[in-house]
Amino acid sequence: MIHWLVQAAGAHPELADGVSLAGMLHADEQTKLAALKTEKRRQDWVLGRWTAKQLVQTVVQQQTGRVAALPEIVVRNGRRGDPIIEYQGLAVSLSLSHAHGHAFCAVVERPSWPIGADMEWIEPRSAAFMADYLTAAEQERVSQAEGAMRDVLVTAVWSAKEAVLKALHLGLTVDTRCVECLIAPVAERPSTWTPFTIGCDDGRLPQPVPPLSGWWRVWDNFVLTLVVGEEVE
Ligand SMILES: CC(C)(COP(=O)(O)OP(=O)(O)OC[C@H]1O[C@@H](n2cnc3c(N)ncnc32)[C@H](O)[C@@H]1OP(=O)(O)O)[C@@H](O)C(=O)NCCC(=O)NCCS
Repeated sequence: MIHWLVQAAGAHPELADGVSLAGMLHADEQTKLAALKTEKRRQDWVLGRWTAKQLVQTVVQQQTGRVAALPEIVVRNGRRGDPIIEYQGLAVSLSLSHAHGHAFCAVVERPSWPIGADMEWIEPRSAAFMADYLTAAEQERVSQAEGAMRDVLVTAVWSAKEAVLKALHLGLTVDTRCVECLIAPVAERPSTWTPFTIGCDDGRLPQPVPPLSGWWRVWDNFVLTLVVGEEVE
């Protein structure tokens, strides 16, 4: 089962200032926050942790009926930057994203499972951006979209690729054209999760790629994308 949550910094002035709420962080996380150098990074980081902890708290409550204390839910980063949840052996995998004062987190109830969540603000992107980062087939699909929906589609394709690369724990360490996300043009911004297809150029990626499923939707003026290893309902 997949769970997701979006939170806005505006709902909590402390978070918008990059300060944690009382009773939110583990001591190790407080140390990490204190070491973050820029205000923007602190703002993104605390909002991401707040959102991830709230989401995991919900999952724990659904699984056990207990309310987990937020400082006991620890979100640390793996060697490649991927977020990892530590809470009493809870078998879940997490991905998170921040953009424009918001955070988006997704959790799948499987341990060490591919999952990628990404959130992008919808805005125009140049022809040069498309040529540099999108495959020819992705550009062709985007060119089928009319007017303002073209901006939505480009943003969705870019976000989808980031979500795939997060699910593979690669991030932007590889050419984004190694991953192809084909999103069918739509007449309106989808407000429900809508599937897209994912293809990966295995020969150009540094690791084998498991079968992945992807979905996208619009929330406010954001595109949200979610990519998860297959065999998850
Ligand atoms: C991963 C990456 C694509 C994120 O893109 P972004 O649009 O800037 O940022 P987002 O807000 O959408 O996502 C950031 C989150 O992605 C996650 N993330 C970072 N690297 C990741 C990776 N390799 N795999 C999966 N998730 C990753 C983290 O949870 C991060 O938030 P956090 O640092 O607060 O925990 C980008 O940071 C990247 O590719 N970096 C290059 C790899 C790198 O330098 N890693 C650092 C090693 S410590």
